[in-house]
Amino acid sequence: MSQACLNPLPRIVSGMRPTGALHLGHWEGVLKNWIELQKHHECYFFVADWHALTTHYQDPHELEANTLSLVMEWLAVGVDPDRAVLFVQSWVPEHAELHLLLSMLTPLGWLERVPTYKEQQQELKDRELDTYGFLGYPVLMSADVLLYRAKGVPVGQDQVAHLEVAREIARRFNFLYGRGETFDTRLRSAHERLGLKDSHRLAEWAKQYRESGALELLARIESTLVGDTRLDFEERAALLAEARGTGREILAEPEALLTRASRLPGTDGRKMSKSYDNAIALRDSRDAVIRKIRTMATDPARARRSDPGEPDRCPVWKYHEAFSTVETRQWVETGCRTAGIGCLDCKNRLLEGMLDALEPMWERLQTLQANPDTVREVLANGSARARLKARDTLGEVRDALGLARPA
Ligand code: TRP
Ligand code: SF4
Repeated sequence: MSQACLNPLPRIVSGMRPTGALHLGHWEGVLKNWIELQKHHECYFFVADWHALTTHYQDPHELEANTLSLVMEWLAVGVDPDRAVLFVQSWVPEHAELHLLLSMLTPLGWLERVPTYKEQQQELKDRELDTYGFLGYPVLMSADVLLYRAKGVPVGQDQVAHLEVAREIARRFNFLYGRGETFDTRLRSAHERLGLKDSHRLAEWAKQYRESGALELLARIESTLVGDTRLDFEERAALLAEARGTGREILAEPEALLTRASRLPGTDGRKMSKSYDNAIALRDSRDAVIRKIRTMATDPARARRSDPGEPDRCPVWKYHEAFSTVETRQWVETGCRTAGIGCLDCKNRLLEGMLDALEPMWERLQTLQANPDTVREVLANGSARARLKARDTLGEVRDALGLARPA
């Protein structure tokens, strides 16, 4: 396997729990987004197997198979190990160490207040989720992203509250440990270099910024510092941190990149979801796909073949938008509204384009399925690469906490 050539744009991290087969909704929503991001950003995508354990600790035996199966699905749709670092959370034990260290400074209240905490406990009553690990779910997730100093984290709406915890933890960490002697020395030397006048001007802007929160002031400070050749990188960082009223930035605050919802509804017209039993899985057979499309819900106004319909009210139409050519879509719009075509004609035409799109993905899945060792190798390489980055951050975190270094 060749080494990944990483892209220079802001670093991206995202994870998925290995809890079962992916469906077309995941492909359309999450994975297509990953595939776009991997073109221009340095991306770390991982299987969050420890996160799966937080809710499924009572039945973990399928974890390994699910992990490999999930990554096969990523690879089959075009997530590319030569562009993105693909790895397994539990193969990078630094995630656990950072989780432990962060847990020391995370107030319980932050975790108890995360809306999904109580909700999930209610929803998954049979799972006994009154555990330490489940409460710590957002802390583990924080470790996942802070370990790589990720700028952007593509997630669904349901994960935004978890990322907010990650931001708060990073801020608190920097506030608690980003000061100290080195920081103060650096700050003193920076002020000396600036001289009294510039130093005062900066302090005045910083004061205004902290009082008003006006971001343009911070931007002005930043651009002034960047342009000042008397300062080195560390001194600029120290001055900026001082202006912000925090310490040195040891951990970077990540930002949620909200993944837009998939356009593809389930076969009953509701949101596609395994729990509604309306999903088309990536691993469904050709026959299963044909059957599911042929029995799919249509515009309820078309009870009879002779009733005209409206594509905008029809779930099948959403699939045409994703899989059919412009000509086919025009044919559908006209034919549906004039009752010139029947729903089965419409679905058969959809299947032509759809099966063409799925065929190459199925072929890749088959090849991967027959060669699980290549998938393990991808993950072993990716995990080794991830560890390099992770150790780097963790070294700084340990230093900041004053832990002794091993000889
Ligand atoms: N909690 C996420 C989910 O259930 C998965 C996840 C774990 C994750 N760690 C992450 C996503 C870090 C983004 C970044 O979907
Ligand atoms: Fe839906 Fe096609 Fe039937 Fe119109 S013709 S209702 S778009 S399946």
